[in-house]
Amino acid sequence: MTTMRELIAELPEQLRWAAEMAPPDMPFADEALIVGMGGSGVAGDVAAVFAEAHGRRVTVHKSYGLPGWAVAARPLVIGVSHSGNTEETLSAVEATITEGLPVGATATGGTLIDLAEEYGIPHVLIPAGPQPRAAMGRLSGAVLRLLESAGVVGATATELLEAAQVVEGLLGGDAQQQAEELAEALSGRITVVYGATGIAATAAGRWKTQINENSKAPAYWSAFPELNHNELVGWTAHPGLGAESVGVVFLSDADDDERIGRRALLTRELMKGVAVAGEVTSQGEGVLARLFSLVVVGDLVSVALAEKAGVDPVPVVVIEELKKRLAE
Ligand code: PA5
Repeated sequence: MTTMRELIAELPEQLRWAAEMAPPDMPFADEALIVGMGGSGVAGDVAAVFAEAHGRRVTVHKSYGLPGWAVAARPLVIGVSHSGNTEETLSAVEATITEGLPVGATATGGTLIDLAEEYGIPHVLIPAGPQPRAAMGRLSGAVLRLLESAGVVGATATELLEAAQVVEGLLGGDAQQQAEELAEALSGRITVVYGATGIAATAAGRWKTQINENSKAPAYWSAFPELNHNELVGWTAHPGLGAESVGVVFLSDADDDERIGRRALLTRELMKGVAVAGEVTSQGEGVLARLFSLVVVGDLVSVALAEKAGVDPVPVVVIEELKKRLAE
């Protein structure tokens, strides 16, 4: 049985796989909508950040059907589902087919690939793996390569390869130690992750879901600058909660606006008494390297927290139980 640590160590290889594979031809599109949930839907978040940084528009939809604007705007819709059987994602792809919008897909198999074959939808078949969230490099890379093939974004391979190299360096370097120290500070507490809208906030969202699923623990995230307009006040009335039950992690990206850096500093000053577990800064040049450099530290923290709590990071029995009950 592959451990979650071994799966995390596969991230560079997954990013290289994506950089080197040949995506199918796609219909030309100006903008795209990525439909997917959970450990697969995060590939849409990655694509949205990448596209935005390169001046293009990719939107993410994490629910049934299509958002109200999509039928008129006619974006390229890409369905992403590791299992290929997620009901919200299938519902969105079926609505896309019904509306006659351009569509692509990526999955390891399941109904999504059956639909793709039946309707001649261009798709990328992902090698099977134990958990969607442990296939983030492949899923994100496949979505990016499909978007590139459609002309929604420019070339992605160079950035994917740089991300692989930066993540590899971190895994073989000080990220493990950094993650252990953060996990020590966060253990037994509710993790709260802050990062600025864009790369750091996307990574913060991934930290949250990895701590939920790998560490089996509650975690939350918020984005600068919005959190300065509400959440900051929320640390006031119950100082004991912030001091004893919570650990806050600040993520920053080298490209954050300097006004964001100032906000983060002042926020820490004004949150006095709230336990700050630490901070992590992105590494690398390209958007993907910077994003995955933050993601990989969070992945390692989530596993270290699982080990401290004595839980197995790999299975997500509750999600499987919910899906089973919904299907009854
Ligand atoms: O981590 C998980 O298992 C979930 O978040 C799944 O990714 C989510 O339920 C969607 O399933 P799939 O990735 O197979 O589409």
